[in-house]
Amino acid sequence: MVPVPGHDMLSLEQVTGRLESAGQAHVLQFWPELCEAEKDVFLQELSQLDLQGLQDHCEGAARAAASPSASLDPHMEPVPPESVGSVRKSDKHSLAVWGNEGLLQISEDRVGVLLLAGGQGTRLGVQYPKGMYDVGLPSGKTLYQIQAERIHKIQELADRKHGSKCTVPWYIMTSEFTLAPTEKFFKENNYFDLEPSNIVMFEQRMIPAVTFDGKVILQGKGKIAMAPDGNGGLYQALVDNKVLEDMKKRGVQYLHVYCVDNILVKMADPVFIGFCVTKGADCGAKVVEKTSATEPVGVVCRVRGISQVVEYSEIQPETAELRGPGGELVYSAGNICNHFFTRAFLQDVAAAHKGQLKQHVAFKKVPFVDTCGNQVKPTKPNGIKMEKFVFDVFPFSRNFVAFEVEREEEFSPLKNADGAASDSPTTARNALLAQHGRWAKAAQATLVDEPGNTLPPAASASAADNPPAQCEISPLVSYFGEGLEELLKGRALPTALLLDEKRAKELQAQ
Ligand code: UTP
Repeated sequence: MVPVPGHDMLSLEQVTGRLESAGQAHVLQFWPELCEAEKDVFLQELSQLDLQGLQDHCEGAARAAASPSASLDPHMEPVPPESVGSVRKSDKHSLAVWGNEGLLQISEDRVGVLLLAGGQGTRLGVQYPKGMYDVGLPSGKTLYQIQAERIHKIQELADRKHGSKCTVPWYIMTSEFTLAPTEKFFKENNYFDLEPSNIVMFEQRMIPAVTFDGKVILQGKGKIAMAPDGNGGLYQALVDNKVLEDMKKRGVQYLHVYCVDNILVKMADPVFIGFCVTKGADCGAKVVEKTSATEPVGVVCRVRGISQVVEYSEIQPETAELRGPGGELVYSAGNICNHFFTRAFLQDVAAAHKGQLKQHVAFKKVPFVDTCGNQVKPTKPNGIKMEKFVFDVFPFSRNFVAFEVEREEEFSPLKNADGAASDSPTTARNALLAQHGRWAKAAQATLVDEPGNTLPPAASASAADNPPAQCEISPLVSYFGEGLEELLKGRALPTALLLDEKRAKELQAQ
């Protein structure tokens, strides 16, 4: 049921026959009402679907939706300590060793980053790709721009340390919804001064949404409701678009995969890369300590001895509440969709495992046309979207590691529209401003308001009533907070402060 690229156009008879044998004859119920142009487009769409697989897909979706999954709890255990690293628990020396290793790999062109940007961002509710969202920073930068500038900076840091002229290629997985606007946006912004040939955009597949009894949903009289196949569609998309070949050609051995919505993402983080490489890992996940047993994030752990992510909805409350001797949660490793993969591992997944990925069922409100041809916008879930998840390849890893990082430094996702209590434009903006305020303080600067009063640090990045000082530092000036002391030490800096390259030069000259 997935579009098969380059599929020949079928005749109406062929399509009708295939739909009937798949139990989906209703798809053509409005055919006589369509005009010639609509018929052409619809027939083309239907010709591109793997109609043979349609029945399996629909029955699978309906079955999965109806059957509760077996309890994993008795088989769960945390990832063993020898496979876990932690920023908080490591000494400065170890962190520096990992960071140096990562920078070395970057300087030798062995590291790429891969952005998952095919999602529809329905909770945020904007009609354009989430990466184009501006959370309201003083600079007005979008998520895409922030990420592009981090690539610039990490290349520069590696070059400076190793005298190289390195490239971190940026692979961007999009979908039918996000490819065209993303391409246009990058072009309009001159690829944020990155070399366009080092930005590789490709598209994931789409699959139909189905009703609870396994019938394909018609979004219009001549249009099936299609959705991207989940961020785990990555592995099929890597094959469809020959991305692994591109990585090989460039000599990329390690890939950092991340989500578009985390404003604090440290792309190609040398410490994480270095940790994974040093450990000889083929697959790794950054995690943050869960804030509470009930926090709705997936947990990185083992089930029957195999590393994987168990979703919060799959764990019984008593298991989620389990605590170790020091009172800490036993299952505290919250997944933040920041993954390390070797190319060899991805090749193995592509060759042997991509068809084995679990299908997750999401219940969604899918707009549809009813049998009378009326357009309906459902108020409660009426359909199933089957999704694969990017982390579902962990079980195929031979040497999986987890790396715990500090939430306030690395994780603030943009999921919801403003007004939501968490993961909104305001919380994302505040998380970044608070981080930059901490960097300025660590560089021994003080931030002052207009009358000259020293501003205290914000109590918490998400506290709407106590927002952090307006202090934004361009990634082109500093990636991790490095290099700021020579610019800022001893200064009282009026806010709003936007420390971009121009301002940095002015400060240097003073
Ligand atoms: P989410 O699961 O948060 O989905 O995606 P979303 O589409 O951004 O938002 P909602 O659920 O519709 O509100 C996590 C990451 O996975 C990517 C997203 O772009 C985001 O970076 N993703 C999601 C894909 O690349 N493809 C998909 O099919 C789904």
